[in-house]
Amino acid sequence: MKIEPESDKVSVNGKDILYKKYLYIMLNKPSGYVCSTDDGASPTVIDLLPDNLKRRGLFPAGRLDKDTEGFVLITDDGAFAHDILSPEKHVAKKYFCRLEKKAEKSYENAFKSGITLSSGEVCKPAFIEFCDDENSVYLTIYEGKFHQIKRMFETLGNRIIYLKRVKIGGLFLDENLALGECREILHKELLKIKA
Ligand code: URA
Repeated sequence: MKIEPESDKVSVNGKDILYKKYLYIMLNKPSGYVCSTDDGASPTVIDLLPDNLKRRGLFPAGRLDKDTEGFVLITDDGAFAHDILSPEKHVAKKYFCRLEKKAEKSYENAFKSGITLSSGEVCKPAFIEFCDDENSVYLTIYEGKFHQIKRMFETLGNRIIYLKRVKIGGLFLDENLALGECREILHKELLKIKA
């Protein structure tokens, strides 16, 4: 039967069923999974969803490389995904980067001025934060070109050996999520993403 989602109450064996128009899920992606809904060869981030969060139409809003870990947002809200991925919206993505070689102080200005990749593509200004460990940095970028961070560091003569996305917009990856675990994003958290 058809139901009115705003006014009807639906329960199964006495248990209320809550209707949600869209789902928004935070996943801590492990290495080895691809950010797509279907991949002939490799497991996808959708395969990691538990049954209670699985439903048709879910897709990852944005791509991390197969070997990158961290925050992937999975949703079935196409407009929201479009919004946070659109380069015009400038939603920040922050990554923890471990480098093959020491991070040089000169990187700060290079990222600020906009790196030109070997392909000739020019990146928007990015923001680097240095860590106590001189081979590790945090980098915040505002767009999502193919293998962008790996290619940015290559132009600086360095190489990424470990990459993890820790924040999208104003929302940090929940530290309580182990690799491969996910949870729903709360409404107030959703607002932080675009903030
Ligand atoms: N930049 C990369 O090079 N890889 C990612 O997975 C994300 C950003």
